[in-house]
Amino acid sequence: MKTPNPFITSGYAGPETFCDRERETSELLSALENGRNVTLIAPRRYGKTGLIRNAMNALPKEFDKVYVDIYATERLSDFVTTFADAVVTSLATPGGKFAATLGRFFGSLRPTMSPQPDGSVKWSFDLAETAVRTSLDGTFDFLASRKRPVVIAIDEFQQIRKYPEENVEALLRSRIQFLPNIRFIFAGSQLRLMSGMFVAPRGAFYNSTDIMPLDVIGEEPYRKFAERFFVAEGLPFSGDSFAGLYRRFEGVTWYVQSVLNRIWQKGTGFRNDEDVEEAIGSLVDNRNLVFHDLLRSQGVAARSVLRAVAEDGIATAPTGRSFLLRHRLGAPSTIAGVLENLVDRELLYRTDRGYVIYDRLFAIWLRRLAK
Ligand SMILES: Nc1ncnc2c1ncn2[C@@H]1O[C@H](COP(=O)(O)OP(=O)(O)O)[C@@H](O)[C@H]1O
Ligand SMILES: [Mg+2]
Repeated sequence: MKTPNPFITSGYAGPETFCDRERETSELLSALENGRNVTLIAPRRYGKTGLIRNAMNALPKEFDKVYVDIYATERLSDFVTTFADAVVTSLATPGGKFAATLGRFFGSLRPTMSPQPDGSVKWSFDLAETAVRTSLDGTFDFLASRKRPVVIAIDEFQQIRKYPEENVEALLRSRIQFLPNIRFIFAGSQLRLMSGMFVAPRGAFYNSTDIMPLDVIGEEPYRKFAERFFVAEGLPFSGDSFAGLYRRFEGVTWYVQSVLNRIWQKGTGFRNDEDVEEAIGSLVDNRNLVFHDLLRSQGVAARSVLRAVAEDGIATAPTGRSFLLRHRLGAPSTIAGVLENLVDRELLYRTDRGYVIYDRLFAIWLRRLAK
């Protein structure tokens, strides 16, 4: 039987298919074991979720673990139900006293019934403002009542800054403070939002966690990791072409994994640069419709800015005269607003040196379009 593809492109499949991150994993573990919470910050696709999974997998047995991704939550009530759900699902043990505890804890999470004008009744899971807070308290009380230490990872944590309710951060912070048996990992990709909560002195979580910025996996450990799988199958592996791949995507995990996954799929090994080009070509082709839609749904100015940034690769001074003239863009003030909006919507990413297209496959696609 063919060996399953070792280059996974979603989720976590155990330490065998997990590359490096040894230092980061042990740093994370030692913070948690020594009673400190950790904030993990890195752009999308760098490997935050993978690292959390890998660290949780390696946690000593005495820890219980809860992982929750709140990306899809849009308001406090979503948070409460998603969080409660994850806590219960992860910590439930068959039978025992658990169900009894749940009664109290779930009391306010029951669906509510409201009579409709037409005489029917409508069931809904929307929580009233007071019920939201009671349920949140119930969840935290439940957590506090447990003797075993728990590590709770909340992924895409910046989402709470987008809720319409005010002071969600202060609310969570005040509850989290009183849970001595519980350690938190907060992970997020939007630097501005995460910094506002954890790094800025006025942020609700200021000084309450270790801040851990996550860089990409090093080129050398990544090459060794990839090479090992090909060699074990008796397949060729070109170190130079791997170096080309790694640099092309600046080592960002998801892209490197996705290309390796495609190359592996062919079954002929990692022979040369053409293998890389072919894999990238197929990844971009695959997203053709999505990218067309994405571009079409932008305003005229945003569309021009995206194409201009893609053409330059990196826009070091996108409100400067030369950039604006060369790409026939509008007034600096208009473009500044467009840039900010594109960064907020994660279409552009702002680096120390300038603006780049966030999704590198989208950048390649945009450049193709220009040809
Ligand atoms: N150390 C690693 N080794 C191999 N694959 C990884 C590693 N870290 C992440 N991945 C894979 O790379 C992709 C992106 O990683 P992910 O953890 O989802 O990034 P993030 O959470 O930062 O957006 C995922 O498909 C994941 O399976
Ligand atoms: Mg993630």
